[in-house]
Amino acid sequence: MNFSGVRIVLRIFLLMLTCAVALSAQETVHLSIDASKPGAKIDRNIFGQFAENLGHGLYEGIWVGPDSLIPNTRGIRNDVVTALQAIKVPNVRWPGGCFADQYHWRKGIGPADKRPATLNSAWGGVVDTNSFGTDEFMDFMLQIGSQPYVSVNVGSGTPQEASEWLEYMTAAAPTALEKERAANGHPDPYKVGFMGIGNESWSCGGDMTADYYVSQLKIYSRFVDNVNPSQKNANQMLKIAVGPGFPETEWTEAVMKAWKSHDWSWNIDGLSVHWYTTPNGWPVSTPSVGFGVEDYTKTLKSTLFMDDFLRKQEAVMDKYDPEKKIALVVDEWGAWHAPLSGTNKDFLVQQNSLRDAVLAALNLNIFARHADRVRMTNIAQMVNVLQAMIMTDKEKMVLTPTYYVYKMYVPFQDATFVPVDFDPGTLHRDGITLPRIDAIAAKDSSGKLWLEITNLDPEKPVEIDAGFTGLTAKSAKGETLTASAVDSVNTFEKPSTVMPKPVSASVKNGRLTLTVEPKSVTVISLEQ
Ligand code: AHR
Repeated sequence: MNFSGVRIVLRIFLLMLTCAVALSAQETVHLSIDASKPGAKIDRNIFGQFAENLGHGLYEGIWVGPDSLIPNTRGIRNDVVTALQAIKVPNVRWPGGCFADQYHWRKGIGPADKRPATLNSAWGGVVDTNSFGTDEFMDFMLQIGSQPYVSVNVGSGTPQEASEWLEYMTAAAPTALEKERAANGHPDPYKVGFMGIGNESWSCGGDMTADYYVSQLKIYSRFVDNVNPSQKNANQMLKIAVGPGFPETEWTEAVMKAWKSHDWSWNIDGLSVHWYTTPNGWPVSTPSVGFGVEDYTKTLKSTLFMDDFLRKQEAVMDKYDPEKKIALVVDEWGAWHAPLSGTNKDFLVQQNSLRDAVLAALNLNIFARHADRVRMTNIAQMVNVLQAMIMTDKEKMVLTPTYYVYKMYVPFQDATFVPVDFDPGTLHRDGITLPRIDAIAAKDSSGKLWLEITNLDPEKPVEIDAGFTGLTAKSAKGETLTASAVDSVNTFEKPSTVMPKPVSASVKNGRLTLTVEPKSVTVISLEQ
């Protein structure tokens, strides 16, 4: 080989070396986890759910009736209950949503054959038998071990109607409503953990101005009460006001300003906000099946706006409430895709893919980082609607990738946030820039440290190298959720395509190393 040949070979070698160094530098993410600086509690209510009377969310998805051939307990599907028990659902918001401001609770109590059929004009104008009403919802809460979060009707109801509903549910003294509940088979008062005062009152809840809503809020907060004696001093019901479903903060300003000067006669404990991931805006158009990496990155970019959205609202809340007495309650969030073809578009049916699982993890991590203010959230929705945990078709049931994320995150419920410092790296795709990695850590009540790592990269694995302050890690184990494609889904025929599987992680000299697969959600526990 002559001199110029040697130079060419050398150049190629140097180029390869540079690429290898760049690649390995890019592909190892170092995490510094400081367990000596605990943060806020990650309230278990952050993992709440939303079950509106919409499409097949309640009817068929949860309620099949006591005479159904589908195995059930007092009309509620056993398969769905068992699945929900495993994810320890802390609270369920019901009956809506937009439906809440059209719901008249009296139509849903008493003997099933005496209940009137009504129209669900919020969602498709379909006939509602009202066979799933208050007592059935409370039974559902009992069966899955969850707390009720009821939304009262401000839009087309009255304070009196709402007050009587709360009395029906919670009275222990022998009032007419208490006796009516007892006659319906429920002598003991129910515990109601949360009450939402209206829903999206700036739109489907009555298209109110902020000032008008505030005047209603004061009245409902004053006159609608939980009268269960066991919730008088401890475990009091939290009252949640309507907040915005848009980044602008005028509505939050109006509610928080009113709250700041409230007198003894009324109060609130939370402000609800709604923020959906709709990468193409409204009307929604992202497909929930058969999409590619471009749609995946676009959707993740869009979902990360949740962080900015919360910061904007929190800045206003901090101004009026620096002690963070009022919780920010994100009681509707999740991916809202185009309806699946062949379904009723008013039933909001969409498939749930690996993309949605990654999206769920990113949002849960954002909520955990905001845990000092965000103390409750409700993903929309629980069964068969939007970003569902569960899908059913007659006797069949399938658990979605999002369900498995909720299952993997159970250890984070009520755990204490632990800061993780890292450079996430960047991912450039189709003109979109994303972080490659996201991570959170938390310590549970037994002192065990839990680490979650999301790899957003659709193609490349990432090496993780983690060091700890304030604990000596001895061993690690965990699970990862991924699949072959960003649009991989679980179906009734193939229910196990996207399921968690064990991941290998090693701890040497107190440092944790593992490889996280592309487009994956990984949860690791560390033994000390
Ligand atoms: O979750 C579906 C709907 O989205 C809810 O009913 C409403 O509150 C929101 O606009």
